[in-house]
Amino acid sequence: MEAVLGLLVISAGVSHGLETSCDARQNRSQCYGALGGTVYLQLVTDATRYDELSFWKGSTGAKTEILKMKKDKWVIKYTPIEDRLHFFINNGTLRLNNTRSTDSGEYLQETFNSGGVAQGTRGLQLFIKAPVSSPQLSSECLSHGEMKVSCSSEGDGSQYSWTLDGQTLRDTKASSDNETNTITLKKGLSGNLTCTVRNNISSDSISKRISPCPGVSVFVYFQLAEVFILLTVCLGSYCFYKKETYHHKEAECMQSQVDHGGTQMRVLMS
Ligand SMILES: *[C@@H]1O[C@H](CO)[C@@H](O)[C@H](O)[C@H]1NC(C)=O
Ligand SMILES: *[C@@H]1O[C@H](CO)[C@@H](O)[C@H](O)[C@H]1NC(C)=O
Ligand SMILES: *[C@@H]1O[C@H](CO)[C@@H](O)[C@H](O)[C@H]1NC(C)=O
Repeated sequence: MEAVLGLLVISAGVSHGLETSCDARQNRSQCYGALGGTVYLQLVTDATRYDELSFWKGSTGAKTEILKMKKDKWVIKYTPIEDRLHFFINNGTLRLNNTRSTDSGEYLQETFNSGGVAQGTRGLQLFIKAPVSSPQLSSECLSHGEMKVSCSSEGDGSQYSWTLDGQTLRDTKASSDNETNTITLKKGLSGNLTCTVRNNISSDSISKRISPCPGVSVFVYFQLAEVFILLTVCLGSYCFYKKETYHHKEAECMQSQVDHGGTQMRVLMS
């Protein structure tokens, strides 16, 4: 069981092995990392310039020290992250492997010179996001020759864009949730349709050759045929009804004649 689990973890790591890097040398930098991937955070240009450097998770209120560098040595102070973190002193860059969503949040760094005087405190915000998955396209013809096309993908904060033969589609009606984006193409359009989905850490696209939907004519024929059938049915039942009542009246008519004749006979006889 353990062996199977280990294998699963490895394959997940391979499929999400996205690397991102972020320049976090400015205060309040915003950095993005792919879930399960590796993120490089450059904290300072050259950490050998400082005597001491501390890296914390959390803001000023509740913070946990993660890494401490003193002189040319660095140690990880927060053991749960130990096997995922590395610090390159020469270029002041942290590398965090196998990122998890719990790695998202605020971080803080402090640097000190040899006299122990604080050189600066900088905050950084890390966002760990699921990369977009390969998008899927589906299309459907509407009654007036328009085409409804949907593009779906999974990922955090996905944004969609469309091109037809390389031209951005702007005058399309689009409706969207996070996972599906649907556009309606005008009648008669054809060409190479591409849907691109992106979020802050990855992007992917899918293309499909589309041909025009059957235009108005075919649908009108269908509608005409429907009207024709309906008319035939109506006419048929009307005639049938008419005939039925006619027969009925004829029969009534004959009956009264017979009655009349009977009376006449009785008159003659008396
Ligand atoms: C992180 O990943 C790199 C390759 O991406 C690997 O060389 C390294 O050993 C891993 N572990 C740590 C703690 O950096
Ligand atoms: C810092 O150095 C490491 C190891 O040489 C390298 O992988 C990384 O890309 C460097 N980062 C920057 C920002 O130069
Ligand atoms: C990336 O993040 C920024 C804010 O952090 C946001 O404004 C932007 O829309 C995002 N881009 C995508 C493609 O999600």
